[in-house]
Amino acid sequence: MRVRAAPRRTIHAWRTPVAIDADMGTWQGITALISEGARPEPRVPEAPRTRACVRLWDAARCGESPMFTLAHLSDLHATPVEPKSPLPLLGKRVLGWLSWRVRRHRVHRPEVLEALIADLEGTGADQVVITGDMTNISLASEFPAARDWLRRIGSPERVTAIPGNHDAYVRVPRQISWDLWAEYLVSDAAGRELLGSEERKTEGLEFPSVRLRGPLALVGISSAVPSLPLRATGRVGRAQLERLERVLGELADAGRCRVVLIHHPPDPGALSARRSLTDAEELCGLLRRVGAELVLHGHTHRTRLASLPGPQHPIPVVGARSASDLGIRPEKCARYHLYDIERNDGERGGEPGGPPFRIALRSRAYDPVTGAVVSAEETALC
Ligand SMILES: [Fe+2]
Repeated sequence: MRVRAAPRRTIHAWRTPVAIDADMGTWQGITALISEGARPEPRVPEAPRTRACVRLWDAARCGESPMFTLAHLSDLHATPVEPKSPLPLLGKRVLGWLSWRVRRHRVHRPEVLEALIADLEGTGADQVVITGDMTNISLASEFPAARDWLRRIGSPERVTAIPGNHDAYVRVPRQISWDLWAEYLVSDAAGRELLGSEERKTEGLEFPSVRLRGPLALVGISSAVPSLPLRATGRVGRAQLERLERVLGELADAGRCRVVLIHHPPDPGALSARRSLTDAEELCGLLRRVGAELVLHGHTHRTRLASLPGPQHPIPVVGARSASDLGIRPEKCARYHLYDIERNDGERGGEPGGPPFRIALRSRAYDPVTGAVVSAEETALC
């Protein structure tokens, strides 16, 4: 980690509920809109409740540098869609294959993702998260190809991923699909301890996943479930929601900056029913009760800023574009995000009683004319 000055612009709170599609050139308007929100209630710090929490509480503070930078990529869609025979195309995949042949292979380009990865390497980001859709139609051949992309982006210690709906386009045995990415998906040892004995015993692929990195807790949710043809819905499910509520509560007690990763936008009404999260209401109710410091998603292929109500403070919600989009539609042209995160301890410009972490967003944008990746908007989220 390194010390870096955060942008000075401050947003006091997020108006809730609000969901904004942030197309090109509208960020200033968004910032102004967000700035209108009411000042949040001061948060009263609580002592950690359990022994595990005490350990996490201490670990979250020991040796902590002031600034932690998290990179966010999404919707890689850079794997070849080349079935060796027509057999795998039976069923829903044939529609996805046709879409790829007609349009998507021109939109999603591996050279664009290469450019973003090369740029990311120069940023010195402490950690990288990828919010799903590493594949296109979940062909068996796409999963090892996507693993190669993950390895190209970084080691499993530095990169955390979750699956998206295209990674569950149809039902594929775990052994030849998500298991190939397991080292990027699973909880770390501290996360397994927090999740409980069942996950610790199996060390398997369970969601939510929990990884502790610096002051952050990266909490990965899977909303990736197969859906009917022409639909791209997602679902978290009751079992995952129950574990999520407990673990977010424990991580709050531990003083962690809880970054929730999910492929589908969590806020109800963000997308049409055909593409939405079917249990968004339940997830939002959970977040309203236990909170989170930041929610990151993909799926929309557009930059998107929104917020959800939390118990003490509004929760910023940020959606990233596809990391391979060539920009035939400029508002979808590839970008990735950098979040500069530091504790709000009332010093260095922080606000006493404000959200426990200050988070600023920087965008890095692909330029389809030059092929370069350049600095785009910067916005203080909280
Ligand atoms: Fe996608």
